[in-house]
Amino acid sequence: MEKKELLYEGKAKKVYTTEDPDVLIVSYKDDATAFNGLKKGTIVGKGAINNRMTNYIFKKLEEKGVPTHLVEELNDRETAVKKVEIVPLEVIIRNFSAGSFAKKMGMEEGIKFLQPTLEFSYKNDDLGDPFINRYYALALGLATQEEIDAITKYAFQVNEVMQEYFASLNIELIDFKIEFGRYHGQIILADEVSPDTCRLWDKDTHEKLDKDRFRRDLGNVEDAYQEVFRRLGIDK
Ligand code: TMP
Repeated sequence: MEKKELLYEGKAKKVYTTEDPDVLIVSYKDDATAFNGLKKGTIVGKGAINNRMTNYIFKKLEEKGVPTHLVEELNDRETAVKKVEIVPLEVIIRNFSAGSFAKKMGMEEGIKFLQPTLEFSYKNDDLGDPFINRYYALALGLATQEEIDAITKYAFQVNEVMQEYFASLNIELIDFKIEFGRYHGQIILADEVSPDTCRLWDKDTHEKLDKDRFRRDLGNVEDAYQEVFRRLGIDK
């Protein structure tokens, strides 16, 4: 499969058209941003790690009944995916307090919840991805009730599968953000699942193995991404 034209360049990925109108090629970059693009940098090797990790986890999710956009990994950085219309909601699931939740609720990080939380942000860079609820989404026509129900069901399913899988790698899945798309009338998981979009802590030491090392200038950013990749054991 060949790239045709650059369709879109985001903060972490480029998206190309292909001969097939239903298929796009995503190309993962090493570029990293935080705080809605205010902070910029490079995490060497990140593109390949995020590409291969996403595909590996999406395959596991498919096996468990979560439909995804994955078509085929083409090389270290590039993957063919189904062309979806992205639902403009960032779907965040949290198992432990951290990040914006900890700040908003005046809690320390790392407190386990009685049950996972789910929240939506409206995907809009100009507004800084504001927190919204399902009623805002319905009122603004961002998604239908049926779509929100499917998204909610799949998001908790993704959490179950990923929590269990990361636990087997001695990693605590603190929280994560996922995105969904519409493909021929169906809701499917799109975008990525990587240390850019998840908080992953070593279960014993609570060392952060994710993008918070970049956001918070904690150092050893590349090492953290490599460590997660090493534990996944997907290097051929
Ligand atoms: P938050 O605590 O900053 O709201 O982040 C929750 C989760 O969402 C965390 O795993 C990081 C991820 N995330 C993204 O993937 N993209 C973003 O732009 C932000 C703000 C968070």
